Amino acid sequence: MHESPLFSPFTLRSLTLKNRVMVSPMAQYAAIDGVATDWHFAHFAKFALGGAGLVFMEASKVERRGLGTVGDLGLWQDAQVPALRRIVDFLHQQGAAVGIQLNHAGRRAGTQRPWEGNGPLDRSQPIEGQAHWEVIGPSAIAHGPGWPVPREMGEDDIMAVINAFAQAAQRADEAGFDVIELHGAHGYLLHQFLSPLSNLRADRWGGSLANRMRFVLEVTSAVRARWPSHKPLFFRCSSVDDGGWTIDESVLLARELKARGVDAMDCSAGGIGTRATQATAEKRRMGFQVPYAERVRRDAQIPTIAVGLIIEPEHAQAIIAKGQADLVALGREMLANPYWVQHAALQLKVAPEYRQMAPVYQWWLDQREKAGWGPAA
Ligand SMILES: Cc1cc2nc3c(=O)[nH]c(=O)nc-3n(C[C@H](O)[C@H](O)[C@H](O)COP(=O)(O)O)c2cc1C
Repeated sequence: MHESPLFSPFTLRSLTLKNRVMVSPMAQYAAIDGVATDWHFAHFAKFALGGAGLVFMEASKVERRGLGTVGDLGLWQDAQVPALRRIVDFLHQQGAAVGIQLNHAGRRAGTQRPWEGNGPLDRSQPIEGQAHWEVIGPSAIAHGPGWPVPREMGEDDIMAVINAFAQAAQRADEAGFDVIELHGAHGYLLHQFLSPLSNLRADRWGGSLANRMRFVLEVTSAVRARWPSHKPLFFRCSSVDDGGWTIDESVLLARELKARGVDAMDCSAGGIGTRATQATAEKRRMGFQVPYAERVRRDAQIPTIAVGLIIEPEHAQAIIAKGQADLVALGREMLANPYWVQHAALQLKVAPEYRQMAPVYQWWLDQREKAGWGPAA
C-alpha cells in the first residue's frame, strides 16, 4: 500500500479515485422543481477544490412521488440534467470524481426541512406554490404517528418505480456522473421494502427475506442494465435498524447485490421507525458505524465505505490501513471544513504531490510556509 493509506488511489471498474475520501451525500433542500441551483454549484465546488477524491451529490429523486420535501434534487425528467452537468464538469476539472445518490422517499414523502421541524408536511396547504404529491409505500403503514398512510403500491406502481430508477440512471450518465449510489437506507422506499416493519405484503414482494429483498434487487438490476458497465455502482444500506434488521441480513443483502453488479456497500444505519438502534441509544462514538463496514467487507467480500462521525485524519487513515473499509465518507465535518482533505494531507505529512489545491492557492500558501512568520506585532 501507498505510504499514506488515506491518500492511496482506489480503482473500481474503470474509475480511479485519487484518494480514499468521499463526501457523503447530503441533501441541500435548495433545488427548484428538482433542478439544481447556484447553491448546489457553490456547495459542491468547495469539496472538489478541497481535494476530496469522490464528491457525492445528495439523494436525488427518481419520480415526483418520491420527493422527500420541496427542494429535493431530482432526475425524473430530462430538464434536470443540464444544471447537474454544469456542476459535474466543474468538479471534474478540479480533479474530483462525482457521484449521485438515487432515491425514492416512499412513505416518507412530504417531510418538513429538518430545521423547520422534520415532521410531516401539512397537506391541507400548498407548499411553496406547488401541489402535494401522492404518498406510496410497500404497505399502508405510516412512518409514524401523524404521518400520511401510504397507498399500497400495486404491481404497476412497482414496475413504474423500477423503471424510474433505471431512467434516472441513464440521465445520471448523460449528466456525466462517475458513480451512482442507490439509497437503500434511512427508512426510504428501498429500505421500506426490506423491513418487515413497513412491508407486510403477502405477494412476491413481501414476507420472506428473499421476497422483501426482491424490489431492491430488481431496482439494482434495472439500474445496472442502464448504467454503463465501466462505471461503479454503490448501495447505501442501513446495516442495522430499529425494526430488527441485522448485520447478518446486511451481509446476505451485500452478497446478492454484489452478484448483480454492485461494487461497494456504503454502511450506514437506522431510520425505519422512531425507536433507537443500539448505535443511536448511546452517546455516539467516533466512527460508530465502522464495525458494520468492516463486517460486510469481510463476510460479503465486497469493498465498503465507512461513514458516521469520522472527523480526525489519523482515525480516517487507520480505518483504511486496518482494512475496515475501502473509503471513508465524511458528512458534517465537510460542512464545517470543506478543505478537510488538504488539512489531512498536511497533518499526516504526506508527500507534497498529494496536496492538490489549485495552483493559485497552493503557490501562495507554499510561499507563506517557506517564509515563515514571527509573533504578532
Ligand atoms: C445536511 C445533511 C443531509 C443529509 N442528506 C443525506 C442524503 O441525501 N442521503 C443520505 O444517504 N444521507 C444523508 N445524510 C447523512 C450523511 O450522508 C451521513 O451519513 C451522516 O451525516 C453521518 O456522517 P457524519 O457524521 O460524517 O455527518 C445527510 C446528512 C446531513 C448532515
